[in-house]
Amino acid sequence: MAETHGAQSTPHRPAVPRYIILRLLAIGIVAAAIGIVLGFLIPWFPPAAAKQAHTIDTLYYVLIVATVPIFVLVVSVVLFSAWRFRMRPGEERLDGAPIHGNTQLEVIWTALPSALIAALVVYAAIVLHDIGVKQPGEMTINVTGQQFEWTFSYPAYHDAQNKPIVTTVLYLPINRPVVFEIHAVDVIHTFFVPAFRLQEDAVPGITTSFRATPDRLGSYPIVCNQLCGYGHSTMRTTLKIISASAFQNFLATHGYSGASTQTASLHRSSGAATAAVADVANRPNPKEGPQ
Ligand code: CUA
Repeated sequence: MAETHGAQSTPHRPAVPRYIILRLLAIGIVAAAIGIVLGFLIPWFPPAAAKQAHTIDTLYYVLIVATVPIFVLVVSVVLFSAWRFRMRPGEERLDGAPIHGNTQLEVIWTALPSALIAALVVYAAIVLHDIGVKQPGEMTINVTGQQFEWTFSYPAYHDAQNKPIVTTVLYLPINRPVVFEIHAVDVIHTFFVPAFRLQEDAVPGITTSFRATPDRLGSYPIVCNQLCGYGHSTMRTTLKIISASAFQNFLATHGYSGASTQTASLHRSSGAATAAVADVANRPNPKEGPQ
């Protein structure tokens, strides 16, 4: 369009003085610094109750420090520009100074974000790997989601009828690594423990899992994080992280008498064939597998 008007066409605004650009930069940098401080002051997360949660929170704080200042810088520069360079009366026919291409600028604004995103992706992948590493002495918990309730079974601990203990409130001993084996009976749910910062889909026909090591006593919400029907919002329960001795009491009140896969594995070291039989009998409920 500019070409059709020829050389003596649209009059141009005067070039932006250097001090204005410096002021723009200064405002952006100050705003970014405020953004970092706010990023740390805002309590984004509920209390963390697992080893993995601390690793994940650190990742989130790194993401906040990396992204909030960029957001604040961009927004403050945009707002300042809209105010400083707005059209005033009598400037209706003025146009900006013609600019075409700036290789240096384009290389910088492509290379810097690419490097930043690549670094964050690698860091996140390392965190994702670390929180999933198998821990020694893991306790398996079978989690089953169905409209609209969670149930938990403790396959290592059987009651007087030799059935795994089953609860609707999840009890875990502190500092004992847990692997959750997650199942769904009807539709897709998501087993989400905000205090662990972890969630995994519960999908009919397959078993999904995640690992967590509770490290803080107390009660924490467990929620379903996938719209799974009319009762979705009511599909919540409680996680209680208790001491090791309180956990033994919990097992005893649910009929656990000491016959567990742990005892079986002790027998196995002496070579007893019965241990292997007991181990098979203690496997997670096969009904919950595919078909
Ligand atoms: Cu189950 Cu939402």
